[in-house]
Amino acid sequence: MKLTVVGGGSTYTPELIDGIAGRRTSLDVDEIVLVDPDAHRLSVIGPFAQRLLAHADHPARITTTADLEEGVDGAAAVLLQLRVGGQAARRTDETFPLACGCVGQETTGAGGLAKALRTVPVVLDIADRVRAVAGPDTWIVNFTNPVGIVTRALQQAGHKAVGLCNVAIGFQRWAAAQLGVEADAVALDHVGLNHLTWVRGVTVGGVDRLPELLGEHGEDLAEHMRLPLPLMRRLNAVPSYYLNYFYHHDEVVERQKVEVPRAETVAAVEKELMDVYADPAVVTKPEQLAQRGGAFYSEAAVQLVHSLTGGTGAERHVVNVRNDGTLPFLPDDAVIEVPATVTSDGAVPLPVPPVEPLFSGLIANVTGYEYLALEAAVHGGRDRVANALLAHPLIGQYATAERLADDLIAQNEDFLPWA
Ligand code: G6P
Ligand code: MN
Repeated sequence: MKLTVVGGGSTYTPELIDGIAGRRTSLDVDEIVLVDPDAHRLSVIGPFAQRLLAHADHPARITTTADLEEGVDGAAAVLLQLRVGGQAARRTDETFPLACGCVGQETTGAGGLAKALRTVPVVLDIADRVRAVAGPDTWIVNFTNPVGIVTRALQQAGHKAVGLCNVAIGFQRWAAAQLGVEADAVALDHVGLNHLTWVRGVTVGGVDRLPELLGEHGEDLAEHMRLPLPLMRRLNAVPSYYLNYFYHHDEVVERQKVEVPRAETVAAVEKELMDVYADPAVVTKPEQLAQRGGAFYSEAAVQLVHSLTGGTGAERHVVNVRNDGTLPFLPDDAVIEVPATVTSDGAVPLPVPPVEPLFSGLIANVTGYEYLALEAAVHGGRDRVANALLAHPLIGQYATAERLADDLIAQNEDFLPWA
């Protein structure tokens, strides 16, 4: 099987390759193509990826190209993991909202909208070209943030796309370690939208072990999630750490005003990683990669691709998928993040127990924002941007939305053909 990674020059690629190398018996890959416009990155990441595979005795061949059409020809699945504008654009997402007292984050709030506006048109163009060359049945696995909005854009344009994030698998692995069980034995009742989720149950062998996690492992949990334990106990759920930006919004903004933006830290880590990757003596995944947020992303991706390419019976994965009535308070075409059964026919959400108003209100609000964000990304226009900001629960005020709309557009002019 041929797998193509668009954005293959990412410093995350070795994480993915490491996952493939470790799953030789299950995922039958013989060629991995890394597609990226950055020739320098490919010249470092490509050979390093090949060394990782060779070291694990994996026979797959790595090829690299800047030519998307060539890269996706014959691919069984295409992974999208790109960042339009790189860390420099991310830095603006993390900083321009602060002047209005709003959180600066690459996937949440005004920064997330900016990223969606830059990214959706690029990803839609790539997906059209994938369909033309690899055929309409090729699965697209989308890690490109903001995953919910980008995946909805792909589905709306008729592409076969599933969205993936590592938050759920990260929690599943943490819970399994605490409980002393195999990760695969842990089934999460994980509900919401990408980067806006709550885990309401952690089932092992039919028994919900969440009370035990909130009880005996509560302090660890609070630290891991950067959220207060009394809150989690009252909610009887574990919010993803992205809820930190909602539940602690004003505190986070005060901190962000004085902290080094994450984009800068990541840029420094990336530099270091590139030096390590370039060293021919290095044949395993370096420790520094753990400083990035994408832990377990490779395992989630490899397992999902395996199911989508028919390598398993129906398997359960937490993915970003079309709602289709699963959450009755949302439109059918909303993209939600829930456990689903995945086969080569795609992902079908499993039934979700009724969602408490404390969560469903916020989910519905952010779904409205995501719809408006996608409208702005696809059709452009300052007023569409302002409407999306007005609908966002972390913004919501007219004067703030107006100013943020102008600031967002000014910061991203190079990426917005209509601006
Ligand atoms: C988590 C999120 C990803 C996000 C990443 C950022 O893994 O699920 O969607 O891209 O964190 O990590 P970084 O190291 O770039 O801050
Ligand atoms: Mn994510």
